[in-house]
Amino acid sequence: MKRAVKIAPSVLAADFLRLGDEIRRVEDAGADLLHWDVMDAHFVPNLSLGLGMLEAVRKATRLYIDVHLMMDNPEKYLKAFADAGADGITIHLEVHPEPAGVLEEIRSLGRDCGLSINPDMPVERLRGKVGAIRRLLLMSVFPGFGGQKFIPESLARLREARSLLDASGREDAELQVDGGVGAANAGEIVAAGADCLVAGTGVFRAADMAEAVRALRGEEAC
Ligand code: DX5
Ligand code: ZN
Repeated sequence: MKRAVKIAPSVLAADFLRLGDEIRRVEDAGADLLHWDVMDAHFVPNLSLGLGMLEAVRKATRLYIDVHLMMDNPEKYLKAFADAGADGITIHLEVHPEPAGVLEEIRSLGRDCGLSINPDMPVERLRGKVGAIRRLLLMSVFPGFGGQKFIPESLARLREARSLLDASGREDAELQVDGGVGAANAGEIVAAGADCLVAGTGVFRAADMAEAVRALRGEEAC
């Protein structure tokens, strides 16, 4: 099945001093989603984007906002993120090894639910847990920081995740990859089965953002 590749620039790499302009720039460049990384300095060793900023950005864009919760106790904040403007909310299997209840809560808030795993979590652990998710997010770096190098073993993990989704009858669920994704490796990442590429540095720090988005999609320069 040939899928359209979606590009989800990660706001973590934006110039925060000029955030409004950065959001407009990324919209004009043809982004499909905005990826919003939330870090709690506990599940990951860093702090990042929170609720107040999300609310401000929500008012400035019609793009789909894809919130990635790299935090402990995400269940306590689901409504707050939904109210602040999230369209989709992704939690980590490491935090909720039996995620069905939390995923259901996200759905009951009217938002798309997603499940993510870190690079050291066997893909097999997702079996039986992808039944109702809208997206599966495979981390291709250990979460916490932008600008890291893509872990090459992630390609095999993507292939495994794609077969698992297909075998579960979830061909329609988005397979997202996050960390170290850029024009140089996007082709092999898509060939391995990903259909949504999260890219922070690769988009926001590119000399030409529209060109970077096109290159990620595998399109020729114009
Ligand atoms: C990592 C975050 C990523 C990060 C990706 O913890 O989840 O979304 O911003 O950044 P790049 O594309 O710079 O690797
Ligand atoms: Zn992320």
